Amino acid sequence: MTPTDQILRGRLLSFARRPEGPEDRDAYTYLEDGALHVANGRIVARGTWDEVRAAAPEVPVVDHRPHLILPGFVDTHIHFPQIEMIASWGAQLLDWLNTYTFPTELRFDDPDHAAAMARAFFDLLLSHGTTTAVAFGSVHPQSVDAFFTEAARRDMRMLAGKVMMDRNAPEGLRDTAQRGYDESRALIGRWHGRGRAGYAIAPRFALTSTPAQLQAAGALAAEFPDCPVQTHLSENPAEIAATRALFPDAPDYLGIYESHGLVRGNTLLGHAIHLEPREIDALAERGARPVFCPTSNLFLGSGLFDDAGLRARGIVPGIATDVGAGTSYSMLATLSEGYKVLQLRGQKLHPLAAFDWITRGNAEVLGLADRIGTLDPGTEADVVVLDSRATPDMALRLSRAESLSEELFALQVLGDDRAVAQVYVAGRAQLGRDRADVAHAA
Ligand code: GUN
Ligand code: ZN
Repeated sequence: MTPTDQILRGRLLSFARRPEGPEDRDAYTYLEDGALHVANGRIVARGTWDEVRAAAPEVPVVDHRPHLILPGFVDTHIHFPQIEMIASWGAQLLDWLNTYTFPTELRFDDPDHAAAMARAFFDLLLSHGTTTAVAFGSVHPQSVDAFFTEAARRDMRMLAGKVMMDRNAPEGLRDTAQRGYDESRALIGRWHGRGRAGYAIAPRFALTSTPAQLQAAGALAAEFPDCPVQTHLSENPAEIAATRALFPDAPDYLGIYESHGLVRGNTLLGHAIHLEPREIDALAERGARPVFCPTSNLFLGSGLFDDAGLRARGIVPGIATDVGAGTSYSMLATLSEGYKVLQLRGQKLHPLAAFDWITRGNAEVLGLADRIGTLDPGTEADVVVLDSRATPDMALRLSRAESLSEELFALQVLGDDRAVAQVYVAGRAQLGRDRADVAHAA
C-alpha cells in the first residue's frame, strides 16, 4: 500500500462521450453505490462498492456517501493575473482591458507578487472543484514561472503560457517579436512536459501583436506541435473592427491567425462569438477549438455563443470561466450561465451533456481525455466530490428531485464552491474540511 492508496466510496458519475439526453445510458456510467480505488496518483479500479472492495479488502476507505463523485473540473480558458480585478465595473472589452486589466497585469513584473497570486489562484481553483486549467499569464515570464512552480508543488495538471504582446499595450506590458519568442521558448524548455505541466503558446490576440510577432508565434507553434496555442477570437464588435483595420489584407479575423500558422487541432480560441461563414468553415476544416465563456460574455456584453451552430458543423467547443472578465471560478456557475445564454439562442443544454462538458468534454478539447476527465482505470486521480444539498435552497430543491438529471441541473443552477465537499489531486485530498464526516453525522 502507498500513502495515497485508498478507496473513495460514493455515487460515481463519469462520461464516455457527450450524452444526447437522459435515455442515452451508454454515454455515461452512474453507480449508486460506487467506488474508486486510487493508488500512486492514479485510478486503479472503478466499479460498484462490492466489486472494488472485494478486490482490495485491506485498503482504507473514505466514505463520501451520499455525495456524487465525478472527475475534477477542467477550465479551458482563464487569466491567472486577473484574479485581483474580477468584478470591475462598467466597461466592454477594449475599455475594460485598458482601464482595469493592463494596470493589474503590470504588477506581475514582481516575482513575489506573482508567487503570492499563484497561491491564491490555485486555492481558488481547488475550492471550486477545478483540477486542470489552461491559463494565460502576464507578458512577464516570471508570472508563468510562479504559476508552474505552485502547480508543481500541488502536483496539478496545468497548462499556461506567457502572453505575447508587442503593441497596443502600455510600456511594461510589451515584449517584442524576438523577445516574446525567446521568452516563450525558454519557458517551454523549463516547463513543458515537466511533471504535469504543459505549455500553451499564447499570442494574446491580434490587436496586441504585430505581424512580426504573430510570425514568431507561428514559428514557435511549428517547432512545438504538441504545445496548444491559445488566443482570443471575435469577442466584441469594436474589437473586430479595430482588428480588421490593423490587418486590412486578411479575409477576416480568423484568417489573421491562419496566415501565421496558428490555427490547428490544438488551437483554443476564446469567445468566437461573431463569426463569418468562412471562419466557421475554417474552424471545421482545421479542427480548431472555440471556447465558450458565458459569464464573461454576459458580463462584458460581448454576445451569445452559437454552440449548436458550431456543433452542427462538427466543431467541438470547450467551456470556460475566463476569469477576470468571467465572474465566477465555478464551472457549475459557468454551466448555469451557459444554459441561459443558450436559452437566448433557442438552444437547450441538457444537464448530462453539461456535466460531460466540464469534465471529459473539456479534457477532450485539450487532447487529455486519456489522462483526466473520465475516472477510467489508468487515468490520473483528479476527482471532485459534490454535495447536492450543500445549501438550504439546494436541500429544499433536492427534496423534490426525482432523477439524476434533475439533481445535476439543480447543482449547476444553484451550486458553486459550497457544493464542493472535497477535491482530490493525483489521489490526495486538498480541502481542509472533511465533509465526508459531516455527511455521515447528518
Ligand atoms: N481579449 C484579449 N485579452 C483579453 C482578456 O484578458 N480577456 C478577455 N475577455 N478578452 C481578451
Ligand atoms: Zn480570455
